[in-house]
Amino acid sequence: MRHIVSIKQFDKQQLAKLFAVAKRLQLSPPWAVPQPLKGRVIATLFYESSTRTRLSFESAVLRLGGGILSTDNAQEVLSSTKGESLADTIRIIGGYADAIVLRHPEAGAAERAAKVSPVPIINAGDGSGEHPTQALLDIYTMQQHKTLNNMVVGLAGDLRGSRTLHSLLLLLINYPIHLRLIAPKGFDLPPELMQQVEQRNVSWAIERALQPVLPRLDVLYINRWQSERYRGAKSKVLGPALREEDLVLLKHNAVIMNPLPRVSEVDAAVDADPRAIYFEQAKNGLYVRMALLSRLFDND
Ligand code: NCD
Repeated sequence: MRHIVSIKQFDKQQLAKLFAVAKRLQLSPPWAVPQPLKGRVIATLFYESSTRTRLSFESAVLRLGGGILSTDNAQEVLSSTKGESLADTIRIIGGYADAIVLRHPEAGAAERAAKVSPVPIINAGDGSGEHPTQALLDIYTMQQHKTLNNMVVGLAGDLRGSRTLHSLLLLLINYPIHLRLIAPKGFDLPPELMQQVEQRNVSWAIERALQPVLPRLDVLYINRWQSERYRGAKSKVLGPALREEDLVLLKHNAVIMNPLPRVSEVDAAVDADPRAIYFEQAKNGLYVRMALLSRLFDND
């Protein structure tokens, strides 16, 4: 049984294997896709809202021949409203499904679930902790446009609260890149992640404004302000934002990425620029999650 709780579980060799499968699936006509999930049931247990992650996982399961048990809005519809603990819910669903894709508002929830689950847990986002499958599709997409050697990668947004930025950072520090960490004061990476950056072979700099760094970047990865993680004043902080008029500052072959949803951090007018690859990035989530599920059940 292999839980997927943190992106730290993946090394470059595993990524290469996973991405080779994802690429094959991406190029395959739907009718020729292998069915390793035939006879399997996968539960998607989501205690936080989601469009891309839940639906791409569910589409991936269906395309691989499996069935779905779906609980969107789990906090309101499950027995947790009667006081049932996450651990008990996981034990129960683990009796009905062959794997559980879990999204939860508390950092560490996936790890807690993995400790009691009779079936693999896939972390689909645990509060401000991690979002490993997002980082996988992010790197998959990035590598289709850029080699990661000596690239200048800007991570912009709520570096403190954004789990997608956390998981992506933990992957990126395995490559010889130059990092620009762009966030307002008070919203830098958590100290334990900063420590990991300092131990690696990457150069890095903290930036407080986006526009002055734009001309240096090969990749801009920007995420919305994670307002649901804060109450009161902090929810009103405005993070870095990319406007249409900023596009002239970016290199002609740079790419603009965003895990989405996009709120106000990227103007809708940016979408038409060929450097904006965030919709392609979201679509790649399907192939990468298909590859992940295939590998999970192929080697049974
Ligand atoms: C992200 C998330 O849920 O952390 N969304 C996603 O899965 N693509 C990003 C976000 O909500 O800002």
